Amino acid sequence: MSKIIALFNQAGGVGKTTLTLNLGYHLAQRKHRVLLVDLDPQASLTTFMGIEPSELKTSLYDALVNSQTLPIHQSIHGLDIVPTNINLSVAELELVGAMNREARLKNIISPLAEKYSIILIDCPPSLGILTVLGLTASTHILVPIETEFKSYFGTGLLLDTVGKVRHHVNPHLAFAGFVPMKFDKRRSQHNRTLEQMKQELKPLATVFPPVPDSTVFPDSTEERVPLALYKPKHPAIKILKEIAEGVEKALFSQSA
Ligand SMILES: Nc1ncnc2c1ncn2[C@@H]1O[C@H](COP(=O)(O)OP(=O)(O)O)[C@@H](O)[C@H]1O
Ligand SMILES: [Mg+2]
Repeated sequence: MSKIIALFNQAGGVGKTTLTLNLGYHLAQRKHRVLLVDLDPQASLTTFMGIEPSELKTSLYDALVNSQTLPIHQSIHGLDIVPTNINLSVAELELVGAMNREARLKNIISPLAEKYSIILIDCPPSLGILTVLGLTASTHILVPIETEFKSYFGTGLLLDTVGKVRHHVNPHLAFAGFVPMKFDKRRSQHNRTLEQMKQELKPLATVFPPVPDSTVFPDSTEERVPLALYKPKHPAIKILKEIAEGVEKALFSQSA
């Protein structure tokens, strides 16, 4: 059975998509068969993987709304991806009133359980129906959080949302962990927020080592590659590898 992880935070710009790409890459390097699913109509993950969203003939939208076969683009940096484009933004409206809509994504990706050991879902920055679809389809949730006070502040709302999803549709949804993002060790607020995150979130799940704030991340995504292929000696790669190893442990340990 595959483990399905939603990378979720309702805030935009925290690094969900960057983490999805890089974590997926390192998990694939650890010999997992990894599928990425782009659930954000902004299609950043699709773009970061070198696919032009406006040129797609079929996308996640067609599978979700029109029950077409799920399009899977194969073997990009060792990863497969279900791409998306802006069409997905109308899916929320079109699925209003649809029967059993929360389970739509779950139903279309569950036949892939044999083929992939890990499926990563890059969620949109909202609490709308698409996010509910993502959290309903998942076995685990991984939460990137910026080490800014303002960003961390939204975590209470995030935990409430996960609580509601567990209560209504997915009682077994487990945390794979929390990933502090864009950490600048020279900034005292970042250090304070990181300490607070460790104290408050550790009872819920692992708080992974922080991913440093560095322009090498936007630079590598501009080149449409994971960091490890852009600057193979960059120090942040060690952190990303540690996170991949920790996530693997969280997913496949007996208690998970
Ligand atoms: N660790 C980091 N340091 C600096 N910039 C980052 C880092 N991670 C992501 N970014 C940049 O921040 C912006 C938002 O990242 P993205 O992954 O698209 O966030 P989200 O998916 O949460 O909206 C992008 O320009 C990305 O390159
Ligand atoms: Mg994103």
